Amino acid sequence: MMLLFLCSIFISLLPPIGAQSTFSPARPPAIPLAVKSPYLSTWLNAGSNGGNGGYLPGFWPVFWKNTITGWGGIIRVDGTPYTWLGGMSPPKVNQTSFKYTSTKSIFVLDVAGLVEMNVTFLSPITPSDLKRQSLVFSYLKVDVKSKDGRNHDVQLYADISAEWISGDRNATAQWDYGVTGDVAYHKVYRQNQLLFSEINNQAEWGNWYWATDNVKTLTYQSGPAQPVRDTFAKNGSLPNSQDTNYRGIQDNWPIFGFAINLGSVGASAVSTLFSLGLAQEQAVQFSGASNATALPSLWTSYFDNDLAALQFFQGDYSTACSMSSDLDNKISSDSLAASGQDYLAITSLSARQAFGATQLCGNSQKSYLFMKEISSSGNVNTVDVIFPSYPIFTYTNPLFLKLLLDPLFENQESGKYPNRWSMHDLGGSYPNATGHPDGKDEQMPLEECGNMLIMTLAYYRRTKDLAYLTQHHDILKQWTEYLVEDALYPSTQSSTDDFAGPLANQTNLALKGMIGIGAMAAISNLTGNTQEAQNYTSIANKYISQWLTLGIASNDTPPHTTLAYGQSNTHGLLYNLFADAELGLNLVPQSVYDMQSNFYPTIKDAYGVPLDTRHDYTKGDWECWVAAVASNSTQHMFFNLLATWIDKTPTDLALTDLYSAITGDFPGFVFDARPVMGGSFALLALKQ
Ligand SMILES: *[C@@H]1O[C@H](CO)[C@@H](O)[C@H](O)[C@H]1NC(C)=O
Ligand SMILES: *[C@@H]1O[C@H](CO)[C@@H](O)[C@H](O)[C@H]1NC(C)=O
Ligand SMILES: *[C@@H]1O[C@H](CO)[C@@H](O)[C@H](O)[C@H]1NC(C)=O
Ligand SMILES: *[C@@H]1O[C@H](CO)[C@@H](O)[C@H](O)[C@H]1NC(C)=O
Ligand SMILES: *[C@@H]1O[C@H](CO)[C@@H](O)[C@H](O)[C@H]1NC(C)=O
Ligand SMILES: *[C@@H]1O[C@H](CO)[C@@H](O)[C@H](O)[C@H]1NC(C)=O
Ligand SMILES: *[C@@H]1O[C@H](CO)[C@@H](O)[C@H](O)[C@H]1NC(C)=O
Ligand SMILES: *[C@@H]1O[C@H](CO)[C@@H](O)[C@H](O)[C@H]1NC(C)=O
Ligand SMILES: *[C@@H]1O[C@H](CO)[C@@H](O)[C@H](O)[C@H]1NC(C)=O
Ligand SMILES: *[C@@H]1O[C@H](CO)[C@@H](O)[C@H](O)[C@H]1NC(C)=O
Repeated sequence: MMLLFLCSIFISLLPPIGAQSTFSPARPPAIPLAVKSPYLSTWLNAGSNGGNGGYLPGFWPVFWKNTITGWGGIIRVDGTPYTWLGGMSPPKVNQTSFKYTSTKSIFVLDVAGLVEMNVTFLSPITPSDLKRQSLVFSYLKVDVKSKDGRNHDVQLYADISAEWISGDRNATAQWDYGVTGDVAYHKVYRQNQLLFSEINNQAEWGNWYWATDNVKTLTYQSGPAQPVRDTFAKNGSLPNSQDTNYRGIQDNWPIFGFAINLGSVGASAVSTLFSLGLAQEQAVQFSGASNATALPSLWTSYFDNDLAALQFFQGDYSTACSMSSDLDNKISSDSLAASGQDYLAITSLSARQAFGATQLCGNSQKSYLFMKEISSSGNVNTVDVIFPSYPIFTYTNPLFLKLLLDPLFENQESGKYPNRWSMHDLGGSYPNATGHPDGKDEQMPLEECGNMLIMTLAYYRRTKDLAYLTQHHDILKQWTEYLVEDALYPSTQSSTDDFAGPLANQTNLALKGMIGIGAMAAISNLTGNTQEAQNYTSIANKYISQWLTLGIASNDTPPHTTLAYGQSNTHGLLYNLFADAELGLNLVPQSVYDMQSNFYPTIKDAYGVPLDTRHDYTKGDWECWVAAVASNSTQHMFFNLLATWIDKTPTDLALTDLYSAITGDFPGFVFDARPVMGGSFALLALKQ
């Protein structure tokens, strides 16, 4: 596998031969292939740093962490083999187009002018259907038809390696082949299961399934990469044999192949469907009202076992596809109506990434959504990572926001966190949501108190779930008290942008705290605590009126808010302003919105507006928050710069939210695949 990979890098450095592909709506830094959970997260690197420009054949797909998850495909047309997926040796087919929607990545491939292939990678998103959303599976569908008006003899082949099952390439893999109903599958798993453990961010427990319809012309084989692939290339079929020498992932590379004889293919397309996914009965350790309990994956409430879930998924393609298309169409028409094509390029690329950092757990009586802070820390349900992403959840189904907040409330309300402010995260290492009973999590007290208040009210605004406010009133009030103390003159501390460094009196952070107090005033009112509401309203208003002097460089031309109080000639993206608009609090006068809209165009770089005056980098999620509440022309400027960046960035990993606004590259360290890009839905959430 490794040798082939090196070989494929060499090939990809050569100028592309043959037809150039079109990319629509953009050529993303990495193309989502199977992106459904923190552990089912495989991409095709496309940027120029090390990717191949977005061509499906010739390059191995990778886990978000940039380690290969072997996934290969060969097609044989009239006896000649061609590679259509992965870095294998037969000549590559020519890619003519690529397009992505919110749930699909679709490649059109030309095989020597003889046949056309449409290859669709669908990772369904079904926010209103928890049963389907709970399945950690993804589809690969291949349609083949003649391109030259003649019939051709076609055989299709696809395999996976054991690289999916562990981050330790020396770990011993075990496997099996079987048929359930009309589904044929290879089951691959770590022989020595390590429950709740990760190596290099991959899961070390659970069973992987690679499946297809058990059609009459199906053949299969498990065995070393060679000869399995060669056998197919030469013969067009596999010998229906199993290798029972269970061994290390990279020890003579065991792979798991399917071959389907499509026979004589003419003008009408012939389809083959594959499913790939992970079944873990137990998903997360959670310390909520009770101490660390093992929570099952939510799919276990709907299915008796792995095979029942697999069989359902493989048989469910037309429903899952049509539900996903409904979501694609909704996001598409709403994004176009809200701000146009640039905006759609951003939202539709972010959807799988945001949902793909989450996993549904529990049972139908009590479910939870857990989120991994992918790439930056691995923390569980980080409050200031849920926060930037929350617009996609309120837009698609606010229940998901509740399911993310619930475990945080449950842990802290049962007295498992000693500090009087909100915790930063539910556990340092996903999937262990075991809390911080020592109170020694990363400290972002103002940030997280404000975030919890804002998100709780945002959830209520969408659902009118008054009981939720009543249930959590006391701890929300406790956090508000902290804000009353610290929001006007924030002490030296980190905001969510901790990589930018701690600072006192941060203008944007102070604003979040004040909006948090305003959110509590609304919550107090709604829960019948009228006097408390009046008090918090008057405090919020008083603070805002002081902030209007403390945080604005009114003598700069044009005037703007500062990075920190009193520091004229500094600036930052004032993204927390979005919450004032989204919650309809109207604490901040329109003049501030207008002032910022006039200011941002004066400080833009090639690919965006810097996060603040300390660095050249910016944050795509926060740019989208700012754009959501900006004037029409400034909003279009932001979305145009970000969409241009997506198309041109040399970064070659799953969409990063952090990049140099000048070069478009990583700013010296790498964030990728983070759920925060769900924040691109800020404008959609606001317009809804
Ligand atoms: C790809 O396109 C080039 C240039 O048109 C052609 O020479 C080559 O044969 C094509 N390869 C395949 C597999 O279609
Ligand atoms: C590929 O998709 C396009 C657009 O939907 C369609 O016109 C074409 O027939 C499809 N080709 C195959 C092989 O299914
Ligand atoms: C894996 O095995 C190889 C060859 O035996 C060895 O060089 C390497 O150190 C091992 N890696 C790990 C992580 O154990
Ligand atoms: C989670 O906790 C278990 C012990 O309960 C440990 O074995 C495992 O390594 C932890 N996982 C991570 C990712 O730290
Ligand atoms: C090639 O395929 C034929 C059937 O199509 C089979 O009889 C033969 O054994 C296969 N050869 C190998 C090497 O698998
Ligand atoms: C949880 O653990 C703490 C400390 O070990 C213990 O005091 C408490 O009784 C436990 N609670 C439950 C519900 O098991
Ligand atoms: C915060 O700003 C206030 C008002 O300008 C100032 O008095 C105070 O010293 C500042 N705090 C810090 C820690 O710099
Ligand atoms: C609280 O309710 C009162 C009376 O309905 C209303 O005037 C006030 O604006 C409300 N305050 C907030 C913050 O919702
Ligand atoms: C208003 O809230 C502040 C801060 O919690 C508190 O000190 C004050 O006593 C409250 N005032 C009234 C009238 O409740
Ligand atoms: C908003 O701005 C864009 C780009 O500047 C422009 O094309 C569009 O017509 C504007 N829309 C409105 C409603 O002003």
